[in-house]
Amino acid sequence: MPAEAYLWFKSLHIIGVVVWFAGLFYLVRLFIYHVESNDLDEPIQSAFKSQYVLMEKRLANIITTPGMVLTVLMASGLLIIQPSWLGQRWMQFKLLFVAGLLIYHFFCYRIMSQLESDECNWSGRQLRALNELPTLLLVIVVLLVVFKNQFPTSAASWLIVSLVIFMAASIQFYARWRRLRKENSEIM
Ligand code: HEM
Repeated sequence: MPAEAYLWFKSLHIIGVVVWFAGLFYLVRLFIYHVESNDLDEPIQSAFKSQYVLMEKRLANIITTPGMVLTVLMASGLLIIQPSWLGQRWMQFKLLFVAGLLIYHFFCYRIMSQLESDECNWSGRQLRALNELPTLLLVIVVLLVVFKNQFPTSAASWLIVSLVIFMAASIQFYARWRRLRKENSEIM
C-alpha cells in the first residue's frame, strides 16, 4: 500500500470524528427541546413532538451514524497499515474510551425511540448532564492520541486542564442562570 494511504485514512478518520461528534452533540440538544415541549399546550405540543421525532431520526441516521461508521472504518484502515499501535498503552486506553462512546451512541438511539413512543423518563436537566459525557470522552481521546505515551502529568499541564474545565463550567452556570431567570420571569 502507498505511504500516502495512511495519511488519507487519518484525514478521513478525523473528518469522521468531527461529523460524529457534531451529530452526537446536536442529537441530545434535540432530546432536551423534545422533552421540554411537554410544557406546551395542545395542539402545538403534538406538532412540535412529531417535528422533533423527524429531526432526530434524520440527524441520527444521516449524520451521526455515518460519521461513526466513517471514523471506525478509517481507524481500522490505520490499524491494518500500522498494527503495532495496538500493542501501545495509549491505544488500549483510547479503545476503552471509544467503546464507552459507542455505548453512548447506541444509548442515544434508545432514548430516541422512547421519545418517539412518549415513554422517555429523562428530564431536561438529566439530558443536559448526559450531554457533557461525549465532551469529556472527546477531550480524553484527543489528549491520548496527541500525547500518546507521554500523557501530560506535569503541574503546568494540569493547570491548563483545570482552566479549560473552569471555563466550560462557567459557560454552563451562565446558561443555567439565564434559563432560571427566564423561567422566573415567565412565572411572575
Ligand atoms: C474505532 C476506534 C478508533 C481507533 C482504532 C482509532 C485509531 C487511530 C489511529 C491508529 C490513529 C493514527 C495515530 C497516528 O498516526 O499518530 C488515530 C488518529 C486520530 N484519532 Fe483515532 N481512533 C479511533 C477513534 C477515534 C475517536 C472516537 C476520536 C475522537 C474522539 C479519535 C481521534 C483521533 C484524532 C484527533 C487523530 C489524529 C491524531 C494525530 O494525528 O496526532 N479517534 N486514531
